[in-house]
Amino acid sequence: MNSSIVLLPGDGIGPEIVEQARLVLAKVAERFGHTFQFSSHQIGGIAIDETGDPLPQATIDACRESAAILLGAVGGPKWDDPSAKTRPEAGLLKIRKELGLFANLRPIKLFDELAEASPLRADIVKGTDILFFRELTGGIYFGESGTSGSGDDETAFQSMTYSAGEVKRIVRMAAQAARGRSNRLTSVDKANVLEPSRLWRRVAAEVMANEFPDVQYDVVLVDSMAMHLINRPSEFDVVVTGNMFGDILTDEASMLPGSLGMLPSASLGDSGPGLYEPIHGSAPDIAGKGIANPLATILAAAMMLRHSLGLTEEAEAIEAAVAAVITDGLRTPDLARGDQSKSVSTDEMGAAVVAKLTV
Ligand code: NAD
Ligand code: IPM
Ligand code: MN
Repeated sequence: MNSSIVLLPGDGIGPEIVEQARLVLAKVAERFGHTFQFSSHQIGGIAIDETGDPLPQATIDACRESAAILLGAVGGPKWDDPSAKTRPEAGLLKIRKELGLFANLRPIKLFDELAEASPLRADIVKGTDILFFRELTGGIYFGESGTSGSGDDETAFQSMTYSAGEVKRIVRMAAQAARGRSNRLTSVDKANVLEPSRLWRRVAAEVMANEFPDVQYDVVLVDSMAMHLINRPSEFDVVVTGNMFGDILTDEASMLPGSLGMLPSASLGDSGPGLYEPIHGSAPDIAGKGIANPLATILAAAMMLRHSLGLTEEAEAIEAAVAAVITDGLRTPDLARGDQSKSVSTDEMGAAVVAKLTV
């Protein structure tokens, strides 16, 4: 297979972790006889610095023509000035919208050996295997916003909107995925307070009753879900929720497998290239130190092979290689927690995964 892959390293630790994922993909290509053509493009703060735009047109064009996109992270203190004309994060939101990537899949799966790396008790986190579907191109992130007034009357607003069509398509995708797993779907909303959540709840229930009567379905309020996630995580299978709730709940859920640095994601639409990225950000506190965990990005590359390139065996090979390095005891500092004496660097972790793929 000959595929063009766009790399969007971005800011902070982005370039460090994307480089490790690229090396892993290059190894997969060599081992399985594929050709991946990589090209790097700008997004985020670095794109603002060089072009004034967090998502230059050349980047959008390259993404549209690609088979798939692998992104590191965007943002950082350098671009955090609240009065700045634009922000790195705007580039990420725009590429998701431009490419119609309405479904963000975020698997939260515990590697058994990492149960000790979780700040939660091992007996609680054991068996965790949740697949979040976060709606990604609607809701409050893309609502009308504005500011007015001054002094104590200075006001800012951002509205939350969902249409029935937006709810149907993400619920359908999540329910389909549930059929291929344990056949259970949980929808998370705030229907006791928010109007868009009441629409979400009603439309989701209709889709489930009419099209997926075989899938066991329940609804949970988002505040309650925040609690259940750390109390009984192993009881959830597929979870579908809106844009902001999904953002927050998955960062919370990252503590189940032990680190934000372990969680990949896939952003998919009805057609066209998918975008793959770790769920974490640019980690400015550790950028440039060579200690970021590259595994989330490497696992995102595996999701890319599976979902965009149809290379299931290759995706499984990467996942097995990651599991093997974990079993061998390799830990970047985020996973080593109390015992930093044996922790490895970003490059060492990437090289260890590549070595496992060498047959
Ligand atoms: P963050 O996810 O960057 O970092 C949170 C904490 O987790 C930090 O202590 C960081 O060191 C740690 N961490 C994250 N990834 C890690 C990894 N791979 N290995 C080891 N440790 C890791 O969140 P933040 O600090 O709140 O945000 C920093 C910047 O990143 C902000 O500008 C934010 O907007 C941006 N951000 C971007 C994305 C994205 O590009 N998809 C996602 C989240 C945040
Ligand atoms: C994520 C990030 C982004 C989001 C930001 C950086 C726009 O937190 O990918 O989870 O909120 O979607
Ligand atoms: Mn986030």
